[in-house]
Amino acid sequence: MTRHLLRDDDLTPAEQAEILDLALELKKDRWANKALEGPQTVAVIFDKSSTRTRVSFAVGIADLGGSPLIISTANSQLGGKETPSDTARVLERQVAAIVWRTYAQSGLEEMARGTRVPVINALSDDFHPCQLLADLLTIREHKGELAGLTLTFFGDARSNMAHSYLLAGVTAGMHVRMASPEAYAPREDVVVDAERRAAETGGSVTLLDDPREAALGADVIVTDTWVSMGKEEEKQQRLRDLGGFKVTSEIMSLADPESIFIHCLPADRGYEVDSEVIDGEQSVVWDEAENRLHAQKALLVWLLRQG
Ligand code: CP
Ligand code: NVA
Repeated sequence: MTRHLLRDDDLTPAEQAEILDLALELKKDRWANKALEGPQTVAVIFDKSSTRTRVSFAVGIADLGGSPLIISTANSQLGGKETPSDTARVLERQVAAIVWRTYAQSGLEEMARGTRVPVINALSDDFHPCQLLADLLTIREHKGELAGLTLTFFGDARSNMAHSYLLAGVTAGMHVRMASPEAYAPREDVVVDAERRAAETGGSVTLLDDPREAALGADVIVTDTWVSMGKEEEKQQRLRDLGGFKVTSEIMSLADPESIFIHCLPADRGYEVDSEVIDGEQSVVWDEAENRLHAQKALLVWLLRQG
């Protein structure tokens, strides 16, 4: 059966670990694996803006000997005249995999149901699983073993990034804390799914509305923009609501002294994180951005092996 990555818990704990191991191997020798030699083409479709995802998929597919086909929805038929399932049936005759950044998770599910090639979620309103593979890789490089580490996410915990930290974090056996105002707490169904997975791995989920308590002793401090793509009209309200959940030097001083700071980028310095933190010594955001490349190459190689 064709495997897809639509949300973080599509991978079992063992599969997630296998992809991270492969990513570390590929990182050591960037051009050693030619899984897409032929070259096979991978369609990479964007309904929303992107820098890191666009570049890392294009470069990664080329590294693997393949050919990236970058498509903007604005000048394709998808999203206008044509459904995700019809698009999927057209693409599967010509490409090895479909990568799609979109709004509704349901569109990705429809695309995946309609095709025999792997579909990869390159960010939806609900999840960003490719980013999490890169983030876990980065945490592993800087902190070693993932299981047992405590990761605290600050800010909009009802966002794609927050939901992905919950699912992917507990899949790796981490203790995931969410620090947010109650109105920005994670979606209940995602919390239930994360708790179920945590029960298998020894991880845990904790929702907190006190940022200082949430920071105490954490190994990894994380935040993301307060205004995700598609939420621009709520900007002023969000800045007011989330103001108390900024990652500051004081927050970092409450975390473990060896803690690291990560952020998927792009960042709004002065809003969700102060410059002195994101540009400071504990920040590993540039390693994290580079790791998109290695993690996604491993994901592509792994998915194509399953088929
Ligand atoms: N982190 C991330 O997905 O960045 P882009 O929006 O630039 O792709
Ligand atoms: N939560 C952000 C992530 C950007 C990579 C957004 O959806 O805009």
